[in-house]
Amino acid sequence: MTAQAAQPDARAARARPRKPTFTVTARGGGEARVWVGDCRTALGGIPEVAGGTVDLVFADPPFNWSRDYDRDRTGEAWDDARMSREEYLAFTFDWIDLCAQSLRPGGAMWINIPDDWAAQIACFLQGDLKREPSVRMELVNWCVWHYRFGQNTKARFINSKVHAFYFVKPGGERTWNPEPILEQSDRRAVYYDPRTESKKDGLPAGHRVPMDVWYGKHWGRVQGNNKERRHKHDNQLPEVYLGRVVLACSNPGDVVLDPFTGTGTTAVMATAFGRRYVGTEWSRHNAKRAIERVRLGPVRTEADIRGGTTAIHQPRRANPNSVSAGEPG
Ligand SMILES: C[S@@+](CC[C@H](N)C(=O)[O-])C[C@H]1O[C@@H](n2cnc3c(N)ncnc32)[C@H](O)[C@@H]1O
Repeated sequence: MTAQAAQPDARAARARPRKPTFTVTARGGGEARVWVGDCRTALGGIPEVAGGTVDLVFADPPFNWSRDYDRDRTGEAWDDARMSREEYLAFTFDWIDLCAQSLRPGGAMWINIPDDWAAQIACFLQGDLKREPSVRMELVNWCVWHYRFGQNTKARFINSKVHAFYFVKPGGERTWNPEPILEQSDRRAVYYDPRTESKKDGLPAGHRVPMDVWYGKHWGRVQGNNKERRHKHDNQLPEVYLGRVVLACSNPGDVVLDPFTGTGTTAVMATAFGRRYVGTEWSRHNAKRAIERVRLGPVRTEADIRGGTTAIHQPRRANPNSVSAGEPG
């Protein structure tokens, strides 16, 4: 499972931009700055990265899946199919190392990654491979994003998930805000269990921290006529996903870093909630469109992110607490 040292990639040597290529202030008050270039070089030009003062990293890298990142035919897109397995893992460990170094002690790193690479990344960050990480990170949660409409196949089970790793850098206080992301417990939504209305864990009645498998309304892949969809980009994450991560793992004013800005989902949600966004992006075209999206702000509301239910069963019986008898609550 050990990655061999890869050949140096000429793309990483592209000149490091000293100033952000694009800057924008969002309606929510947060500022977004994006540096165009290969993250392995461009990250070093970001003052908060160099200073190790980033509070939260979210990374959704290219998966080496031959994704077309140039559907506008600008000729400047990342080639997503040119790396061998060894090269891809070396590339991955390189950017992960840079992101881990950028974090303050106690800062969080989230990585969105499919089955192909999940095991290697989990082992690498915990120091279980021959190549040592620059920082050994602690695994807080191994979440799964479950989406509908995976690629259809008859040959095996259909893929319908991506792994969402939540690591923390040891040595400092971890930011954890459960309140803004709570959802209704099944005890309230399905069973009308009175015990959940007088909870002793300090959380509001009938609510719980979401489970580590994430799904539900607005959690599908962003495709087709989805209201959030930025056309001509294959790999856009749902706003509710980044909303949950940003609200739970950072505070207003904190610095949020995404080395793979893409359509700007992290930037949009971080700035909407008053965080300071810094990011890198290989394609100038994508970066420009992400900045335009930050200006527009999110499509989903805060209510879309919290308070709902992900129960998969219908209520068992009529709600005994309902005012009009016989109405499910
Ligand atoms: C999977 S997409 C990110 C999508 C993003 N999470 C969103 O919701 O829009 C990966 C992005 O990383 C960019 N990229 C690929 N390799 C890169 C590199 N070495 N440095 C910086 N950006 C890169 C691609 O151009 C693409 O826009």
